[in-house]
Amino acid sequence: MPFVDEHPAHLHIDLLPEAQGSGWGRALIDALVQDLGRRGIPGLQLTAGGTNTGAIAFYRRIGFTELRRTPGGVTFGRPIAAVR
Ligand SMILES: CC(C)(COP(=O)(O)OP(=O)(O)OC[C@H]1O[C@@H](n2cnc3c(N)ncnc32)[C@H](O)[C@@H]1OP(=O)(O)O)[C@@H](O)C(=O)NCCC(=O)NCCS
Repeated sequence: MPFVDEHPAHLHIDLLPEAQGSGWGRALIDALVQDLGRRGIPGLQLTAGGTNTGAIAFYRRIGFTELRRTPGGVTFGRPIAAVR
């Protein structure tokens, strides 16, 4: 996949219903991005199911941009600044 060189890290996130909508998703991904940045990883990508409109809205809201769209889903990516 052409975007993997620039986004070598891949993410899955699934919060239980009672943990959703309270900022945990953003906080967990921010923590992951910080850690990846310290390790020199330049980007993060994931794929959301095409009908998962809530997740798609969430990823856009927290700064991911669309890399690819297929009948099966939408792949999003986010560059990561190196952290020293
Ligand atoms: C998708 C998921 C990870 C989001 O985590 P969350 O803790 O619920 O989201 P947060 O509370 O951190 O929301 C962060 C921002 O995204 C927005 N957002 C979150 N869910 C949203 C939705 N369904 N529709 C629109 N915006 C949404 C929030 O309003 C918030 O915006 P703000 O910065 O203006 O406050 C979580 O709901 C989840 O695990 N869902 C079920 C499993 C799933 O779909 N996983 C993803 C598979 S690809």
